[in-house]
Amino acid sequence: MEVILLGYMGSGKSTIAKGLAKQLNLEMIDLDHYISDKEQDSISSIFKNKGEIYFRKLENKALKEILTTKKNYVLALGGGTPCYANNMEMIIEHGVSIYLKGSIQTLRSRLVLEKASRPLIKNLEDHQLVEFIAKHLFERNPFYEKATHTLKIDDKKSNEIIGQITSNML
Ligand code: S3P
Repeated sequence: MEVILLGYMGSGKSTIAKGLAKQLNLEMIDLDHYISDKEQDSISSIFKNKGEIYFRKLENKALKEILTTKKNYVLALGGGTPCYANNMEMIIEHGVSIYLKGSIQTLRSRLVLEKASRPLIKNLEDHQLVEFIAKHLFERNPFYEKATHTLKIDDKKSNEIIGQITSNML
């Protein structure tokens, strides 16, 4: 079984993927880690030294590699993965895709604590975050909404989200 989790930064893709993979006895793959391992470099440093377009090319290549060569996994994408090149088409074709959908307020409250590790928001002031997330989500939602399933994550604990996925979506 191939399960692919997508959603905005801070929506819990990696955490949920870890728990879900454990429960289903599948391999957990984190696309950002996969890219980092291949490049022997952090995502922040790739963004800083080579730029976002270079990162998006790596991301597309890594995604294609995973989807076409691996089986039986839970894959956590990066927040932007579905929105570039033909990524969302490939995702839909190769597995059950699940959009972990958080409200702007939920995402803001999580991201304000973790800005530093995220190249796209690390230079924003805290008060600029809401507007940035709102605009960005407006652009990205049409891609995210193509997922096989959409699951609202506001005010839910990881266990509850994992339970809803295993009982209703797989
Ligand atoms: C990005 C999200 C990040 C990472 C990169 C770009 C984005 O992943 O891929 O910083 O465009 O939203 P997370 O969603 O795991 O933070």
